[in-house]
Amino acid sequence: MCGIVGYLGNKEAYPILIKGLKRLEYRGYDSAGIALLNKNGELNVYKKKGKVSELEAFAKGKDITGTMGIGHTRWATHGEPNDVNSHPHYSQSKNLVMIHNGIIENYASLKEGLTKRGHTFMSQTDTEVLIHLIEDIRQHENMKLGHAVMVALNQVIGAYAIVIMDKNDPDTLFAAKKGSPMVIGIGKDEYFIASDASPIVEYTKNVVYLEDEQIAIVRRGEELKIRTIKDKEITPYIHELEMELEAIEKGGYDHFMLKEIYEQPRSVFDSMRGRLNSETGHLKMGGIEEYETKFSNARRILIVACGTSWHAGLVAEYLFEEYARIPVEVEYASEFRYRNPVIYPEDIVIAISQSGETADTLAAIELAKSKGATIFGVCNVVGSSIARATHAGSYTHAGPEIGVASTKAFTAQVTVLTLMALHVAKVKGTIAESRYRQLLYEIEAIPQKIEEVLKQNELIKKIASTYQHASNALYLGRGYSFPVALEGALKLKEISYIHAEGYPAAEMKHGPIALIDEEMPVFVIATKGANYEKVVSNIQEVKARKGKIIAVVTAGDHDVKGMSDHVIEIPETDETLVPLVSVIPWQLLSYHIAVMRGCNVDQPRNLAKSVTVE
Ligand code: G6P
Repeated sequence: MCGIVGYLGNKEAYPILIKGLKRLEYRGYDSAGIALLNKNGELNVYKKKGKVSELEAFAKGKDITGTMGIGHTRWATHGEPNDVNSHPHYSQSKNLVMIHNGIIENYASLKEGLTKRGHTFMSQTDTEVLIHLIEDIRQHENMKLGHAVMVALNQVIGAYAIVIMDKNDPDTLFAAKKGSPMVIGIGKDEYFIASDASPIVEYTKNVVYLEDEQIAIVRRGEELKIRTIKDKEITPYIHELEMELEAIEKGGYDHFMLKEIYEQPRSVFDSMRGRLNSETGHLKMGGIEEYETKFSNARRILIVACGTSWHAGLVAEYLFEEYARIPVEVEYASEFRYRNPVIYPEDIVIAISQSGETADTLAAIELAKSKGATIFGVCNVVGSSIARATHAGSYTHAGPEIGVASTKAFTAQVTVLTLMALHVAKVKGTIAESRYRQLLYEIEAIPQKIEEVLKQNELIKKIASTYQHASNALYLGRGYSFPVALEGALKLKEISYIHAEGYPAAEMKHGPIALIDEEMPVFVIATKGANYEKVVSNIQEVKARKGKIIAVVTAGDHDVKGMSDHVIEIPETDETLVPLVSVIPWQLLSYHIAVMRGCNVDQPRNLAKSVTVE
């Protein structure tokens, strides 16, 4: 959470920083701020509660010149979102300014010590404490700034991605990270620093991913230098970015979320590209191959994840148990890490994360690793912290997901997990060859089936207009559709702020049924399959209590149509693959309801896309 950008070069920094901050707003949008050093050596800091556009309006007409600057968009942790708590923060002398993504956990004791030494603080943030500490060390130890940063970071407990600017040094930026991500772009006579590559991609494809406890010294006219906080020199490893600019722009859609929903035929295809060949029956999962025997002998699989990724994990539980006959437990990473779980060295842990930066998931991985388990990652962001912390993994290849509510990442995760489960089943011999072959064909047909569902957008929009004023909603599903019910409810509450709950359809009678009246829309997945008749009975129970039924059904099903207020037909597929298709109507429905209610679809209140705090 929080997005950071920095620029040092021969162009005006302000437009580059503002554009970069807008690209990073998915990481938090409680406040935004910027610091620029102009050619007269004056440091101008502008910060404002609210979005980057509000900062832009505030900075209008002010001095925004300078070829070196830093910017920040905040998701508040310490201190409420207001102008004062916004970044950048000054040191005591106001000669240094700093932006920060992360949390300094021992800030209170550091602050106490600094206060005793005469420091006064303007804000309630942990960030301000760190920049005061750096200056304090620099003055008292009579050190160069780079060394003072090193000494201070050795005293810090917590996570940080920081960039520091010194009013008296117009040619240098210091950047450092631990736990929070940081990328440095290397252009011709210019450097870019950012939380991810999106603010950098249009200027250069050459980037360095800073590792934990490294400090980058970015100096005008010099090559990038990196040292660890233990003062060891590191040779920067330059990667070539594969990301294209179009992937992070709206491409004619009103919102990123809608664009990402519509991208799913392609993103699901990309997540299986080069991995699946239905003609030869070949399934190539690069990351797994080395661990095939481990997977086959695994006593069980533990899946750790948060949010939508956790829902993908639930689908994977059904898949691995059904295809590969391995017991699976799906855990919220935040619970898992704090409850002394039993972990065996023969366990396989699958960590699922779109961003690859979620703090709780990272911590769960470290815990499982310390107990000797093998950790496998399913991440979307290439080179992310989780991708690097795992022993092996498979990327989802969904492309950048910018809308805060996850859509295409979910379907890509489920696709990859399906391929993984099938691959392990094949190796273990727990699946008949004919069924395996049939499933490969079915999976290949999924992008086309998603395309078919997207064609029903107008119908779904109409349904959305009927229920846009609802205060509550219930989502039901059984078997493979239960995780989709949870995901449907999450999508609705995240972006439209309607209270929604997802339930296994049969559990409804143990509680939620008490809520049903003529005001309550009940969204049900009632596709053909093993549980079909049972779900139909659940629909009858809702109707008997005058609830409204909106059902997702298999194309051609007239029975459910007869008892529902609205139906959305989806093409038939294998029961185990239904989530990949049935989630699409719920994504579109939430999107339209949120737009109709005037909500900020891409940046819902209080949420952030990359949750780097626990
Ligand atoms: C946040 C996002 C969700 C996401 C969850 C887990 O809550 O808003 O969309 O599902 O974090 O994130 P991850 O990047 O680990 O999948």
